[in-house]
Amino acid sequence: SETRTVIFTPSGRRGQVEAGTTVLEAARQLGVDLESVCGGRGICSKCQIEPQFGTHSKHGITVSEAAISGWNATEARYDEKRGLKQGRRLGCQAQILGDLVVDVPEESQLHRQVVRKAADTRVIHMDPATRLYHVEVAEPDMHEPSGDLQRLTEALSEQWGIGAVETPLSVMTRLQPILRKGAFRVTVAVHDDGDAPARLLDLWPGLYDGGLYGLAIDLGSTTIAAHLCDLTTGNVIASGGRMNPQIRYGEDLMSRVSYVMMNPGGDAKMTAAVRTAISELTVELASEAGIESQTIVECVIVANPVMHHLLLGIDPLELGQAPFALATSDALRLAVRALEITGVNAEARAYLLPCIAGHVGADAAAVALSEAPGEQDELTLIVDVGTNAEILLGDRNGVLACSSPTGPAFEGAQISAGQRAAPGAIEAVRIDPVTREPRFRVIGEERWSDEPGFDANVTGICGSGIIEVVAEMRQAGIVDASGLIGSAEQVGSDRVIAEGRTHAYVLHEKDGRQIRVTQGDIRAIQLAKSALYAGARLLMDERGVDRVSRVVLAGAFGAHISPKHALILGMIPDVPLEQVTSAGNAAGTGARIALLNRSARAEIEATVGQIRKVETAIEPRFQEHFVAANALPHAVDTFPELR
Ligand code: FES
Repeated sequence: SETRTVIFTPSGRRGQVEAGTTVLEAARQLGVDLESVCGGRGICSKCQIEPQFGTHSKHGITVSEAAISGWNATEARYDEKRGLKQGRRLGCQAQILGDLVVDVPEESQLHRQVVRKAADTRVIHMDPATRLYHVEVAEPDMHEPSGDLQRLTEALSEQWGIGAVETPLSVMTRLQPILRKGAFRVTVAVHDDGDAPARLLDLWPGLYDGGLYGLAIDLGSTTIAAHLCDLTTGNVIASGGRMNPQIRYGEDLMSRVSYVMMNPGGDAKMTAAVRTAISELTVELASEAGIESQTIVECVIVANPVMHHLLLGIDPLELGQAPFALATSDALRLAVRALEITGVNAEARAYLLPCIAGHVGADAAAVALSEAPGEQDELTLIVDVGTNAEILLGDRNGVLACSSPTGPAFEGAQISAGQRAAPGAIEAVRIDPVTREPRFRVIGEERWSDEPGFDANVTGICGSGIIEVVAEMRQAGIVDASGLIGSAEQVGSDRVIAEGRTHAYVLHEKDGRQIRVTQGDIRAIQLAKSALYAGARLLMDERGVDRVSRVVLAGAFGAHISPKHALILGMIPDVPLEQVTSAGNAAGTGARIALLNRSARAEIEATVGQIRKVETAIEPRFQEHFVAANALPHAVDTFPELR
């Protein structure tokens, strides 16, 4: 038999196939990614390709129009009914007759790459756990009595090579009418993340070519954020967030644990509240994206240990006291139904990333998955700043992790004029070192406060603003190294006013309303930044280093911190300014990676087993580091990069 050379782009895969082989079959033989839901029956159109006619000097091939077969009846019928774009062919129908160069457009690639962020070349390789398969099921026969389900699973095995598959009762009960409605042709959604037997999640009569979707949920103590993702393209089709309703039982983690200790049954209330909030958020996102809730078949959830336990309905009591034992640290695979989260497919699956330690949760594991500290050449410090800071330090030689109780000051809480990052909040501040006069910028207004036309309604100071103003006050000599605000005479500015026995700095005044930075605000920031710095230093001690090469600020808040001001305050260890980068919501990105790529799940489970945990709460050196870090920037450690 005669063979032909075929080259696939963009992969560059090249090989010989027998003349007459379909492009889909050739792709399979050569290991090229080419999507197919219908298995080559010419009905799903997922296999579209583009033959590249002409001379390809790079490959030494000239492709003539005769190198590919003309339309057969199936392809012609498809084109008539649904229309094929100019230049496109159905890969399962078009046969290779001569030497051929063929392009696989992005939407036909099974394991396409999704670029995570615009400025980031790192990509997610699509390999979702749930996929659609179209099958033709043998019709029942009186002489060979077997169940419809048995013939369906046989068809899955013969036509798609899918072995044992579990079928939940809710699918079994709908099986017979759906099979008959589709004249024994059905599309099934099969979930297989490589850990347990494959599972039949849902089925549709005939060809189902709507989408399948999944949720990546970052369950934080303060906010719940979720991305609704298309499991075929990897695209985020809707994103949203809401406050964690558990806030009314306690601002931070430990106060929620205490609430449980003081109020029997309090954990059940918090469990119900968070499950309801996630369900509502799910419905909101589905309606925003205009998809049916039934098509949401997976949820990946990341959370800190207390949130993780409360979501699962596990009393977090043990997490509130040494030795901080988790009920379970393993990754969890369960039915979303078991979490009483609604608004998704009845058989949707949930995956919870593993927890690293009693204080370092699945959220930190997700950051590790997203930022891959264990793959870095340079020693990298990653801090995810929230009510609790998760801190990772590592490179190829190993990764260490801890968490540190920073409290909510960095989020604008416990600050007299503090507020969430929203229009009207001061987010950036500069203070003239000579006149001690401030200028600032607020969210939602391009102009600085000293520019003509500035007329924003200033409502308060958000987290990044409070960091900048304290750092600027330190630089302008309004605050000394111990964090004390000097008097108006000492500072030489009438913006400093007395407040009881302490002083405050008036940042803004309008219509008799002042936005001040008080002594209490400075103290709250000192406590938060000391906790953060002490955690980082503890990991550096464990690693035996006194410098790191890079600092990555993760979290929504991390994205807005000015590296220079963070260094002036001594929030992070000294490092060249250009080596401080922001990773955005790395925990959320990690959740998305685990949602879109099933092998990432096995990967992070293995990685977490190798991360060394350091417990800040019982480590006496943490206290020493904490006290020394109270000064601005530090009592002992130097910050040569600040010069
Ligand atoms: Fe479905 Fe070609 S594989 S149309």
